[in-house]
Amino acid sequence: MTQTLLLLPGDGIGPEVTAQVRRVAAALTPDLTLDERDFGGVSYDRHGVPITDEAVTTALASDAVLMGAVGGPKWAGVERGKRPEMGLLGLRKAMDVYANLRPALCFDALADASSLKRELVAGLDIMFVRELTGGVYFGQPRGIETLPDGQRRGFDTQVYTTSEIERVSRVAFELARGRRNKVHSLEKSNVMESGLLWREVVTDLHRREYADVQLEHMLADNAAMQLVRQPTQFDVLLTDNLFGDVLSDAAAQLTGSLGMLPSAALGEAGRPGLYEPIHGSAPDIAGQGVANPLAAILSFEMALRWSLDRPAEADRLFAAVEAALAVGARTRDIGGTLSTVEMGDAVLSALG
Ligand code: NAD
Ligand code: IPM
Ligand code: MN
Repeated sequence: MTQTLLLLPGDGIGPEVTAQVRRVAAALTPDLTLDERDFGGVSYDRHGVPITDEAVTTALASDAVLMGAVGGPKWAGVERGKRPEMGLLGLRKAMDVYANLRPALCFDALADASSLKRELVAGLDIMFVRELTGGVYFGQPRGIETLPDGQRRGFDTQVYTTSEIERVSRVAFELARGRRNKVHSLEKSNVMESGLLWREVVTDLHRREYADVQLEHMLADNAAMQLVRQPTQFDVLLTDNLFGDVLSDAAAQLTGSLGMLPSAALGEAGRPGLYEPIHGSAPDIAGQGVANPLAAILSFEMALRWSLDRPAEADRLFAAVEAALAVGARTRDIGGTLSTVEMGDAVLSALG
């Protein structure tokens, strides 16, 4: 049976980096069917919504979905519910991809591109497991209201249920077992009720089912500091939606660039995963052909591994990226001069 990968190129550098995924897929997995839909600001411009119902239905019927990026200044004034970013949140929710795997891996060839000293990042291999369909991103009530005295008041709700915490924690513990067997659970249980519940649920699940895994609780602010002090102390980092968003951008820079970090958003087994570079549409460089396509290409690598059951092709692609970097292929963000297309060329030529 043929498998289908739905591409959602999106806005800004999104189409530039997903075009390189297209080329890699054509070479590596010619039997994989690629489909494509509008997403984000482009979709809003054409269809009046950041993602159409038809695109969501197509995503749910695909074997995997790979997006580029959405958003940009052009849509800053659009009403909240129709903003590109809301299309992304809606898609994550519709696909029920509650566990976002964000691996921060420092390729040996790139250790000098990191903002930290080589000795601090050499061999770095950490995995964020970010809760993706709950928390303050989705909590109700939220809004901006006008108070009787004329002031305005903006509010959001951070909320987690036991089952939401448990299912994402389970993913973190399972992953740790196949890695270095260590989970750091990050929250602010010292000030937040949802953080306290998070700590209790993780502790309880660990005691019942994962006592063989090393578990440490760490306050999220301390974790931010530890990430730039000694990042290699971590293996799996389990976080809520917001802390995971913020901390994974910081971790990306440890690896050299935001343009290096892929992600996999997963739900229950058998459902399609959503694969996303963690970077955005990069309006400052969009259209210049200089974006780093490796986060998108490595997101495809994750799709091959986690949704398409093609570990051999995933291994080949990973090795090709490593080899391209080893012979000095570099876009601007990691200290080189290659264009997006030339970096795609370098990966293709390493694929052989
Ligand atoms: P951004 O990630 O787009 O860019 C941050 C910085 O990193 C910029 O200087 C950019 O040039 C650089 N950068 C990002 N990706 C790069 C790549 N592949 N190669 C080289 N350099 C790269 O974040 P931002 O500027 O804060 O956000 C811009 C827009 O993107 C906003 O509308 C935001 O909501 C959206 N956004 C979307 C996603 C997504 O679609 N998954 C993720 C983050 C931000
Ligand atoms: C990310 C992005 C998204 C998020 C935005 C664009 C909705 O920053 O995937 O990291 O905050 O989850
Ligand atoms: Mn982010």
